[in-house]
Amino acid sequence: MAEVVIVEDVPAAGALVADEIARLIEGRPDAVLGLATGSTPLPVYEALHRRLGGADLAQVRGFALDEYVGIDPHHPESYRSVIAREVVEPLRLNPSQIHVPNGSLDGIEHAGADYEAAITAAGGVDLQILGIGTDGHIGFNEPGSSFASRTRVKTLTAQTRKDNARFFDSIDDVPMHCITQGLGTILQARHLVMLAFGESKARAVAEAVEGPISAILPGSAIQLHPHVTVVVDEAAASRLKLVDYYRYTYANKPAWQGL
Ligand code: F6R
Repeated sequence: MAEVVIVEDVPAAGALVADEIARLIEGRPDAVLGLATGSTPLPVYEALHRRLGGADLAQVRGFALDEYVGIDPHHPESYRSVIAREVVEPLRLNPSQIHVPNGSLDGIEHAGADYEAAITAAGGVDLQILGIGTDGHIGFNEPGSSFASRTRVKTLTAQTRKDNARFFDSIDDVPMHCITQGLGTILQARHLVMLAFGESKARAVAEAVEGPISAILPGSAIQLHPHVTVVVDEAAASRLKLVDYYRYTYANKPAWQGL
């Protein structure tokens, strides 16, 4: 089962996950990080900057989960721009080592296969950061996605477009399509770290961690992975049935065990 860590607040979640990433990079300077976008991972990137801001991270490699299709790559809300602004620049990563799926219409038919080949060539992802959508999506694998899916083009649900409208001038500007790592791709990362904050994520978190494994809740795919850490605040944890057990387990976690 996933290890569920209930933290006091959002900065504590960022610090906890940043510590784990720092440990990984200390042991393996060319570690491969799976990078999520959206609001949820921002406290992790901020904490990483505080923790490792002065360090030489030029060997670190990274793969973003997803990108909008047809968006101008220079648009401030393209995931290429977001990853550059929130991750690559503050941490002074080497831009050539950080990959984002190519959402350009030109070549979109082979962009998924190209991305899969690049992840394979890098030896796979060591630690994948994940958020979760209110409809249970991870990456942009919307409800109904195959658990065997690989990087490909998907249609965003009306709910996801509504949720993401806050990043754009209007909902009409939110792209209809995206290119996302598949659930099968995500499941091949060696460690999955899912974060979620706030009441609006409570249902998706509970179903992903404790619900039936089902395509209707893509996040439930994490139950198939042997090493998953779910870091949530109290509000996002509020619908978990085994909440007392998660607290008890974490309080009694052996000191030698990382996340
Ligand atoms: C982003 C991604 C999505 C988000 C999810 C939650 O790369 O893959 O799955 O993690 O939509 O978004 P936020 O964090 O903005 O609530």
